[in-house]
Amino acid sequence: MRASTLSGWGMALPDKVVTNADLEAMLDTTDQWIVERSGIRERRIGGTTSGLAVAAGRAAPARARAGPASVGLLVLATSTPDQTLPATSATVQHQLGLGCGAFDVNAACSSFVYAYVAAHQFVAGGVDRVLVIGSETMSRIIDWDDRSTAVLFGDGAGALLLDAVDASSDNLLGWDLGSNGALRSILDADVGGFLQMEGKEVFRQAIRAVVDSAGRAMANAGVNADDIALVVPHQANIRIIDAVNAKLGFTIERTAVNLDRTGNTSAASIPMALVEAADAGRLAPGDLVLLLGFGAGMTWASAVMRWDGGA
Ligand code: ACO
Repeated sequence: MRASTLSGWGMALPDKVVTNADLEAMLDTTDQWIVERSGIRERRIGGTTSGLAVAAGRAAPARARAGPASVGLLVLATSTPDQTLPATSATVQHQLGLGCGAFDVNAACSSFVYAYVAAHQFVAGGVDRVLVIGSETMSRIIDWDDRSTAVLFGDGAGALLLDAVDASSDNLLGWDLGSNGALRSILDADVGGFLQMEGKEVFRQAIRAVVDSAGRAMANAGVNADDIALVVPHQANIRIIDAVNAKLGFTIERTAVNLDRTGNTSAASIPMALVEAADAGRLAPGDLVLLLGFGAGMTWASAVMRWDGGA
C-alpha cells in the first residue's frame, strides 16, 4: 500500500512587528476594539510571498534531512502572488534549487488545505516527495487607510513535506473541499486593487461553512469530535474559532491559536499554527488533527490528518 507521511515542517515570519498600538497611531481605531472584535494583538509585515515561501520551504526539507533533488513536486498555496505571471511557485522552485514541477493553488484562505489534499493525491499517484507551502503577503493588498480591514491581516509562510511510504495507514484520513461562487462579492480584491469585505456576512457564512465541512471531513474519516487531539482552524478571528468550537464540541485547549501574534495570514495561517503547535510539543505521533479552512470564494476546506511526528 502506498501512503503518505509527514516528514518535515517549517515556517517563516517577517521581522517587522506591527502592534495594535502602532495602528492606533495611524488609524481611527483602538487596541481594545481590535482585541475584542478579532483577538489580534500584533501581526508581522514585510518581505515577498516568494521570499517567505523560500524560507519556510527550506526549513521543512532541512528538518527531514531531504536534499532539493529528492523533491518531486512543489505546490504553493497563495492568493498574493509576486506577479500575475509567472506563478510564484516558479520563483520559489528556482530559489530552493528544486528540479521538479511547480504550480500555485489559489482558494483564498482555504488554499493550504486544498494544496495539502492535492499534494496527497500526487503522493498516492506516484510522486515520492511533495513540498507544500502556504505563503502570503496580505499587507500588499490591504488599504492601510481602511480600518475595517487593515487591523486584521498579516504576512507569513508555513510548509509541510509529504513523503511516500509503504504503509496501510495513511496520513490523510478524510477531507472535504467546497466552493460557492455566488458569495464571491462578500470578500474580494480586484487585480491590482485592495481587499474589501462585508465582515458581518463573512463571519456568518464562515461559521456555517466550517461547521458543515468539518462534519463531512470527520464522517469521511470515520471519526468524531472526541477522536480529534488538536483542531487547527484558519486564524481569521477568535470569535469565529470560539463559535465553531462551541458548535462542534471542541475546547480552546484542544485548538491551535496564534492569530493574536500573526493576524490573518490567509493561506499561511493553518500551516503556521500547525508548525507552532508541533514545535511546542502539543502533538504526539498518532494524534488526529482537524484542519479547518475558509475564505473568499466563498471556499472551505477541511481535512483529518494523522500526525506522525516526522518519518
Ligand atoms: N476600529 C474601530 N472601529 C471599527 C474598526 C476598527 N478597526 N473597524 C470597524 N469599526 C467600526 C465600524 O465602523 C462599526 O461602526 P458603526 O457601528 O458606527 O457603523 C463598528 O465598528 C462595528 O463594526 P462591525 O463591522 O459591525 O464589527 P463586527 O463586530 O462585525 O467585527 C470584523 C468586524 C472583525 C471584521 C468581523 O465582522 C469579522 O471578523 N468578520 C469575518 C472576517 C473574516 O474572517 N475575514 C477573513 C476571511 S478569510 C479570507 O479569505 C481573506
